[in-house]
Amino acid sequence: MDNLIDGRAIAAELNGETRQRVAALASRGIQPHIAFVRVGEDPASKVYVGMKERTSAELGLKSTTHVLPDTTSQADLLALVERLNADRTVHGILVQAPLPRGIDAPTIFSAVDPRKDVDGFHPVNVGKLMLGDAGGFVPCTPGGVHELLIRSGTTIAGAEVVILGRGNIVGKPMAAILVQKAKHADATVTICHSRSADIAGHCRRADILIAALGVARFVKADMVKPGAVVIDVGVNRIADPTAKNGSRLVGDVDFAGVQPVAGKITPNPGGVGPMTIAMLMRNTVQAAESLTC
Ligand code: GUN
Repeated sequence: MDNLIDGRAIAAELNGETRQRVAALASRGIQPHIAFVRVGEDPASKVYVGMKERTSAELGLKSTTHVLPDTTSQADLLALVERLNADRTVHGILVQAPLPRGIDAPTIFSAVDPRKDVDGFHPVNVGKLMLGDAGGFVPCTPGGVHELLIRSGTTIAGAEVVILGRGNIVGKPMAAILVQKAKHADATVTICHSRSADIAGHCRRADILIAALGVARFVKADMVKPGAVVIDVGVNRIADPTAKNGSRLVGDVDFAGVQPVAGKITPNPGGVGPMTIAMLMRNTVQAAESLTC
């Protein structure tokens, strides 16, 4: 049954467009440069930053990674961010979350120059997104989901969208993107969260259901309207005695159960994940273009 939204293929298409913009910058003697900051040795963060470094190189971007020990003070991390803000050769800055205890992530994200905030986490960029100002940076994961919807031919205008999860990285910005009075938006958006009454009832009304709550296989077939578009943002590690390391990653959607009911669905892995990095690359090129124009 081929109702899959192929995130790898759509990310490759987007990366092709990014490559063209990198080439155009190269003809002006400019190479987009992203600085990664990783604090501590969180294993998932190491994997994610490694993937971002690799994609940067593949697309012709320069990347520099700063690794700090998990004993780093907030003042020292702020000093590094300030140095990167002032460095005219750096166009994008990404401080990988989660940060160690004792460091206040919002303080760090707010210290990044908004013009270099390729994560879209700075309050100025959050505000621009809310206001429908296209000049800011859109956070990579919800931005990637938006591109998946657009490029899979999903009708967004007038659709009932239900988002599971109200986090600052996915749920809230996702709602802001889709509710705008704009092309590829104009949806009716509901956000459900841990205190919502009758989540299943909300889900069953959705034409587009976006799961970003961080609960393994939460969305079951009987929560999905037949023909709905289902996007699985979840990354959950569950025990699996048959796996080499005793665990594996699953999404927020019970894929095997939901796929036959859905009109279209993202696989996981291979859906939202590749889009997040593609959007980061695009944001970095956008930063390089606007800082050098
Ligand atoms: N950790 C998990 N997702 C993200 C993200 O989009 N950006 C950063 N900086 N850290 C993350």
